[in-house]
Amino acid sequence: MPRTLITSAIPYINGIKHLGNLVGSQLPADLYARYLRLRGHEVMFICATDEHGTPAELAAAKAGKPVAEYCAEMWQVQKDLADGFRLSFDHFGRSSSPQNHRLTQHFAGRLAEAGLIEERSEKQVYSKADGRFLPDRYIEGTCPNCGYERARGDQCENCTKQLDPTDLIDPRSAISGSTDLEVRETKHLYLRQSLLRDRLDQWIDGQEGWPILTTSIAKKWLHDGDGLQDRGITRDLDWGIPVRKGAEPWPGMEGKVFYVWFDAPIEYIAATNEWADATDGDWERWWRTDKGAEDVRYVQFMGKDNVPFHTLSFPATLLGSGEPWKTVDYLKSFNYLNYDGGQFSTSQGRGVFMDQALEVLPADYWRWWLLSHVPENQDTEFTWEIFQANVNKDLADVLGNFVSRVTKFCRSKFGEVVPDGGAWGETEAALIARLAKGLEAYQGHMDAIEIRKAAAELRGLWVAGNEYLQEAAPWSVFKEDPDKAAAQIRLALNLIPFYATLSAPFIPDAAETMHGAMGTEPAWPEDVEATLATLAPGHAFTVPDVLFAKISDDDRAAWAERFAGTRD
Ligand code: MF3
Ligand code: ZN
Repeated sequence: MPRTLITSAIPYINGIKHLGNLVGSQLPADLYARYLRLRGHEVMFICATDEHGTPAELAAAKAGKPVAEYCAEMWQVQKDLADGFRLSFDHFGRSSSPQNHRLTQHFAGRLAEAGLIEERSEKQVYSKADGRFLPDRYIEGTCPNCGYERARGDQCENCTKQLDPTDLIDPRSAISGSTDLEVRETKHLYLRQSLLRDRLDQWIDGQEGWPILTTSIAKKWLHDGDGLQDRGITRDLDWGIPVRKGAEPWPGMEGKVFYVWFDAPIEYIAATNEWADATDGDWERWWRTDKGAEDVRYVQFMGKDNVPFHTLSFPATLLGSGEPWKTVDYLKSFNYLNYDGGQFSTSQGRGVFMDQALEVLPADYWRWWLLSHVPENQDTEFTWEIFQANVNKDLADVLGNFVSRVTKFCRSKFGEVVPDGGAWGETEAALIARLAKGLEAYQGHMDAIEIRKAAAELRGLWVAGNEYLQEAAPWSVFKEDPDKAAAQIRLALNLIPFYATLSAPFIPDAAETMHGAMGTEPAWPEDVEATLATLAPGHAFTVPDVLFAKISDDDRAAWAERFAGTRD
């Protein structure tokens, strides 16, 4: 049985994620996990919350809660929303887990033994107005690389360059806006990534068939002017994983914690360890190539801003440890989804957030639209008009209508059992050939994680069923030749479980309703003709409730207005 490890970038704990975040990692990762499970893979699908760092501290302070308590609550909120969107994680972990403490400290210890860690006394920005050292991302200023004026001290959102706060032009505190900043001396650990440059270069060259978006970002920062820079991996903060060298204390580093971007990707491993502890499972067979992971294929999903951390920093941790850790085999990254003429924004509360989306419509509507418009090759725009038009057409008019017409027609003419009617003719043979071709194309796109193409192919399969019905017209045929109409309907009824299985990765709830109505279980069609004979004459079914209601113009207008502003 092929084994696939799938990780989604782990969302920050501070607040509910918007649809742009969802479509940029968790949702496409879920699509792929569901697909591979249906294809008979053993899948380990991992996500978690990213709990450390100043954003968590500040959000907790704003909520008036101790940070540990805030994180525990927000983890539950995010977990419930993930369930609401039917994200089928095998484990949804927490980067603050004891497992991640242990593993993060372990990696730091190994890197130190390998001579890859250096202590540096450095000058760090201290804000007198805020009474604290300012972490990188809480310093804003102009990007020295592209001139973007709201670049953060860790990274420029505009050109994706990883930055140090002291690189910024005209820096200010993002907490208070104060420019009364001073530089103070403090000691930190640096990961000497520069020593790993050749190994990383080779490692990236050895990857076959990575998407261009991924490799170009990786190569750009590997060879950019000064090359791969050493990175500070510790911070002067209270909340985080205490700096230790494995199980030993780290003299001189008391009271400091690891930088959130050092421990966050390690949580992919730690979350699998959490899963193992909770289920009596074996996490090392997914992560250690000396313990069974050599035949695992590891696929990561993330937004494009996360790519440098996953192609450079995290592999530097894994390779630098000198231990046989599993590294990523395929990295799927995404552009941004925009909202109605601007950006989705967590800080400004702009766009539709996961909780709000589920208040308005069930998960499948969102999953279908988001996945069929996933920003694979360029940034993509969400507007309510486009959303309404696509959902009404694809889900209500095409798929939903097919299921309802076929089951209702059968009920009225033949009752709620699959009718017989004898052999099929040429029209049916042509449909079966069309479906076999479409299925092959669909599988090819899903295997290659070409999500938009896969969605288009799936839609094409739904359309083919409708066209067949139109052409065969059993409602007219029935008057002259009820047997022929019965054979046509037998085929059409058999299409419902076929569609349900193929559609399940996109719209799992509708798929379940379809299987439920037909009394079938998901089984991947290996042979289309045989699959379409699964429901034999006499098999009982029920007419399901409306699968997808149309979005009315009034609803659309009301939602557009409700989500026009910003949320607090
Ligand atoms: N929390 C980060 C973000 O939302 C992603 C972290 S991914 C991991 O951009 F590598 F750290 F796990
Ligand atoms: Zn820039």
